[in-house]
Amino acid sequence: MNVLIIGNGGREHALAWAVSRSPQCKALFCLPGNGGTAQLGQNISIPTANTQEIVEFALKHKTDLAIIGPEDPLASGLADQLRAVDILSFGPSADAARIEASKDYAKQIMKSAGVLHAQGESFTAKKLAHSYIENLNTNNPPVIKADGLAAGKGVVVPQTIDQAHQAVDDLMRLSGKIVVEERLSGREVSAMTIATDNDIFPLPLACDWKRVGDKDTGANTGGMGVYAQPQFTENASTLTERVHKPVLAELKKRNAPFQGVLYAGLMISENNLYVLEFNARFGDPETQVILPLLDGDVLELLNSTAHGNINKSAVTTKDQVAVGVVMASNGYPGAYKTGAIITGLDKIDNNVFVFHAGTKQENNRIITTGGRVLCVVALAKDRKTAREIAYQNVERIQFNNAYFRRDIALYESVVTN
Ligand code: AMP
Ligand code: GLY
Repeated sequence: MNVLIIGNGGREHALAWAVSRSPQCKALFCLPGNGGTAQLGQNISIPTANTQEIVEFALKHKTDLAIIGPEDPLASGLADQLRAVDILSFGPSADAARIEASKDYAKQIMKSAGVLHAQGESFTAKKLAHSYIENLNTNNPPVIKADGLAAGKGVVVPQTIDQAHQAVDDLMRLSGKIVVEERLSGREVSAMTIATDNDIFPLPLACDWKRVGDKDTGANTGGMGVYAQPQFTENASTLTERVHKPVLAELKKRNAPFQGVLYAGLMISENNLYVLEFNARFGDPETQVILPLLDGDVLELLNSTAHGNINKSAVTTKDQVAVGVVMASNGYPGAYKTGAIITGLDKIDNNVFVFHAGTKQENNRIITTGGRVLCVVALAKDRKTAREIAYQNVERIQFNNAYFRRDIALYESVVTN
């Protein structure tokens, strides 16, 4: 098969790694890819926003399957555009991807489907949002979210009511529509399932360390580390019955049948389970620990899903855990420098994975190009061993201004108070 992977993050490197291992993979193109994908296939410098150019490339290279990684091209209808010219795609239509692209829409779906979620109200007028917060009559400041896609910058969890008011102003400027949501506490888990409109295949659960600093301090990021598979929740299949299935049925009812990965960001409180958000794609960095835990043919799993008939025997899950530590450019998620040469990649243990995100290959050297640079993933029988191996390997990799958290997977998941 000729396979196209759209995106340039760690998630896409992990997908490229898994797909390239399949005996069915004949040619692999990554648009635009990164320094890691360059070693597995051919990088093509078409930005993910240039959807028409992607379609033309896919046609010209007789693509058998296009796998769409990031949310933006999904929300702008790349899967629809590809299907319109008979190119098979893994990923939902723009209509179905609205479950991620609009938090307001996601709430409507969950309400109709009877899925527990954080209660909230949407506003397009700042004044109404401010008076809603004034009238909440609580000391627990609500969470403020931009309605639309905001590249990880759309959620503020304020400490004070004043900060909540400030977040209303900031996010209204960013998005024009916001959601003011009750603040929940508990343990967070990412529950992803491969889905078509009539079947599902739950993936291993994962926990994401989102804050930039140790002990969960500082700004939210795209993810500084990740662990799979936590044991503190019901298992993935049970969660999928409670959360994903009713939502998939509701989307179908609304003429927006889903195909791809439906990702539920869950908060597990003492007594209940709430959905914080849905994503319409593989998580990043969750994918970097989940794919190495799968044995078998991932390309077959994704291709059969795109055909509408999930081949569930294509993969099995290893009886192991995986820890991923993200190495970033110091300053991320704020301003940071790029252009540093990465060394030590040749000193990595055989059974450890280094998935690239913000890197490029230049004259046989790997150079930093982004905020999140690498994700170092180790597998073991238990969390303690996996994190020790991951950190031993992180220490062997060097670049100017490298930064990483030291407490990834020290505990099973982040606890939000
Ligand atoms: P999201 O992009 O919706 O996953 O939000 C990013 C992060 O903000 C989540 O991983 C949580 O840590 C936090 N968050 C989002 N919604 C809530 C909420 N209702 N209550 C508490 N924390 C939240
Ligand atoms: N890890 C969070 C996300 O992919 O949105």
